[in-house]
Amino acid sequence: MNTDQSFLIEGGMPLHGTVRCSGAKNSILPLVAAAIAVRDVVTFQNVADISDLRSLLALVETMGVKIVSFEGGELTLDSRGPVEPRVENTNGYSLRGTQTLVGALLARERRAMLPSLGGCSIGARPIDLHIKGLRAMGTHFEWKEGYLIGQAPSLKACDVYLDFPSVGATENLLLAAALAEGTTRVFNAAQEPEVYDLISFLNKAGARIVPVFPFGFRVEGVGELHGASHRVIGDRIEASTLMMAVAITQGEARIAGVDARHIWSIIAKLRETGAVVEVEGDDAVIVKGVTGYRSTDVRTLTFPGFPTDAQPQMMAYLTLAKGNSVIVESIFENRFGAILELERMGARIKVTEETAIIEGVDALNSATVQAKDLRGGAALILAGLAAAGSTTVKSIHHVDRGYEALEAKLAQLGARVTRVNQMEA
Ligand code: EPZ
Repeated sequence: MNTDQSFLIEGGMPLHGTVRCSGAKNSILPLVAAAIAVRDVVTFQNVADISDLRSLLALVETMGVKIVSFEGGELTLDSRGPVEPRVENTNGYSLRGTQTLVGALLARERRAMLPSLGGCSIGARPIDLHIKGLRAMGTHFEWKEGYLIGQAPSLKACDVYLDFPSVGATENLLLAAALAEGTTRVFNAAQEPEVYDLISFLNKAGARIVPVFPFGFRVEGVGELHGASHRVIGDRIEASTLMMAVAITQGEARIAGVDARHIWSIIAKLRETGAVVEVEGDDAVIVKGVTGYRSTDVRTLTFPGFPTDAQPQMMAYLTLAKGNSVIVESIFENRFGAILELERMGARIKVTEETAIIEGVDALNSATVQAKDLRGGAALILAGLAAAGSTTVKSIHHVDRGYEALEAKLAQLGARVTRVNQMEA
């Protein structure tokens, strides 16, 4: 039985109204890992109910973490009991969101076992930088029967330089250093808001992590961490996606629940195309799309540059710009997965390696298309909102990984999006 689902979209209508985005997916995943390092009861507010989180919770529960409650966006975990430092890939879930379990388990148990973290649809997703940094802190790694086994009888604080400011590697090093003896300095660390969200929680739990401008972070290891409660930051990528949904449909709407400082690159790029974007207070933006908006060029970079996680959605938006746009995807090696489906809707895109040239067209045609990954699926939904007529986006489980009830949020803005079982589509 094909239990997959699709979004049925009646496109061609401008979006209007106000909507609040959920808590950041890329915060809550490392925060759940951090709960293991805390060995106490922790509570998170503003937590999005997304399938990547559900899968991670199922995983950590098998390791011994108790899920005390998860409702109304509030998640309470209890890791006071024994935790088995072995991650079993029981549900075949892509282990992407679990990489920070390594740092948390090394901090707490001084050992960790993970099945190979394998790639995913957007790239090989290696963890060489994680391993190099944790090795520098005294961890011995070996691969055994497809498992990566890390042993660190005594994690030692040291200076660690990251060859690339990897988000996951930074988070793993901060988690390990928080409970390592001595002072660790992480140079060339990732500066994404979700890294700072993790640090904010860890410091509430008794860690001593401070940013060291302009290099990265200094961590003074402590003996143990204690329970804390923390409100997750708004999801800047969901906010970006909703902003582009308003812009591509030439609507006008307010997106709340996001810190404008986390989306300046998106605001700048939408303004370059002629869209009007106003910041309201410290947690909302108002977007007004314009007809005949201009093309622009985008290069994805680490924060505060334009986020790779909003690149496919920006590509969908630029398919209807006046003129040619150039997108350079400099973070992942395979993040143009939505192009073939966008072309089936009439988009004109030429790709050479990491560069896509988008020739703006006057309109997209509604069609039945297939989501192949999380953000590519979001891009197809935006295209469906812009194309007059009825578009079906299949395999919406990809989108459910990182967006909570996206159809309900879009419906709040007047979009006609319904979730159907694939059999009906
Ligand atoms: C995090 O992934 C996010 N996921 C990704 O979001 C996001 O795209 C990415 O950061 C970049 O911002 C979570 O936070 C759960 P990286 P992460 O390590 O930590 C290479 C989404 O759509 N690299 O910064 O895996 C890597 O291959 C997801 O929400 C190495 O070569 O990203 C990639 O090309 C997708 N060796 C680049 O660095 C390493 O050891 C960025 O990876 C680690 C990374």
